[in-house]
Amino acid sequence: MNTGGAGLSRRAFLGAGAAIGGLALLAPTRTGMARAPAPFAPTHTLTLTAGEMELKLLGPDRPLSRIYAYDGVPFQTLRLPRGARLKATFVNGIDEGSTLHCHGIRMPNEFDGVPTLTQPLVQPGGRFVHLLPLDDPGTFFFHPHCDETGQTGRGLAGVLIVEDPRDPAFDAEHVLCLKDWRLAEDGSFLAFSEPGGASKAGTFGATRTVNGAPSLELKAPAGGHARLRILNLDSTRIMDIGAEGGEGFDAWLIAVDGHALEPVRLDDLPDGIWRMGPAQRIDVDIRMPADGSPVTLGDYRAADIYRFATLTAEGRVAKPRKGPLALPAPELPKPDMKEATRLSFTLQQATNQAVKDLALPADDPLAKALIDSLCVGSTTYWGIQSESWPTGTRRNLPPPLARMETGASYVVEIKNETRYPHPVHLHGHAFEVLSSSLGRLPHHWADTVLVQPGEAVEVAFVAAPGDWVFHCHILEHMETGMMGWFRIV
Ligand code: C2O
Ligand code: CU
Repeated sequence: MNTGGAGLSRRAFLGAGAAIGGLALLAPTRTGMARAPAPFAPTHTLTLTAGEMELKLLGPDRPLSRIYAYDGVPFQTLRLPRGARLKATFVNGIDEGSTLHCHGIRMPNEFDGVPTLTQPLVQPGGRFVHLLPLDDPGTFFFHPHCDETGQTGRGLAGVLIVEDPRDPAFDAEHVLCLKDWRLAEDGSFLAFSEPGGASKAGTFGATRTVNGAPSLELKAPAGGHARLRILNLDSTRIMDIGAEGGEGFDAWLIAVDGHALEPVRLDDLPDGIWRMGPAQRIDVDIRMPADGSPVTLGDYRAADIYRFATLTAEGRVAKPRKGPLALPAPELPKPDMKEATRLSFTLQQATNQAVKDLALPADDPLAKALIDSLCVGSTTYWGIQSESWPTGTRRNLPPPLARMETGASYVVEIKNETRYPHPVHLHGHAFEVLSSSLGRLPHHWADTVLVQPGEAVEVAFVAAPGDWVFHCHILEHMETGMMGWFRIV
């Protein structure tokens, strides 16, 4: 690429992410002035086809289940370098409308995959091209944004890892996707949502899996450091992730939702666990015992601990490192706390009339068409600030929860007045988690934050242009009202 005499310094070049495609964003003119962004220049191109496949989820001698996956690979993992410009074509090979949403990626709004708000629903056989700048390293994932309880409930999700060459070298790395399934004895799916679940903590699956298996046997060298990327891809379940090991073992939380934080020992967190709701991810640095004894990972939330992985020693590291192995600090737009506008949103159960009135009559054909186009359920159990995603009288999108200004800083308080925890996600941004009224969260960056009953969590971010949804990631809650949007201009 010729940059001679263009006035584009080496520093500006590196600042553009040192990506081959980075230059395309800042097209230099002869006078050295940047003009309007040049066309997106993909460095990587791929196709993701949603389809049906069979998998033995109940056990080796048990009936098959017909699940959904991208490209016939359950929880397919894509790895791309930081700075990549990804052209991803979503092809809908299932027999219902769908879209592709890349969760946690900061991108132009038009590629966000939210039907009605950012694009039309992709019909069976249809396709949609997403142009994604992958500037933030970390552990991300992708999933449909329509009939999520049904499509993600059947397994439609994949992992997107943006690799950073500056990361410390780990002695082993493993990706663990946690997801439960709602299966009958014959392998078929049970109803993904039941009113008693949707209106409360959610409808749980009883078949617990990690990467589609009951548990994993993983390897890492004795005395070495293993990087585990753990994703909660369940529709409903909140998990308390912890680890145990013998002499010399230790475990540190080194990233949340892909973004590095000051490493915290898991044992130093309240109850020695990291509580993780649907859509949340963590990177954990595990130091293996020098004597080669095993390490186990579990979800300690239920009385009946779900031990989903065991790390056993294979080989031994020559020079053990003490750890933790910290990741480079995130380079995200830093909110200006002095100038920030403060907003507050309350998560509510449909107990007051204002929220109840939003329910749509299920037998009304107009309501039915609206429900289909907005990809929601016909019932409203939840609201944010007394607004629900579809509304009974307006019969179209509710007004935005807030109008914001591009580039301005916001501090948003999320208050939970319900009796259930909610993992709240904002599209297209990474936010700084400033505080929890229960004092339980370390300072970190995230795209989804779990808000406990009675808790208020404060997050801050620099607004990026577009119409971005803000919703609970317990999929049934989102589909029964706990979703709103911000208009940022
Ligand atoms: Cu995982 Cu609306 O997103
Ligand atoms: Cu919720």
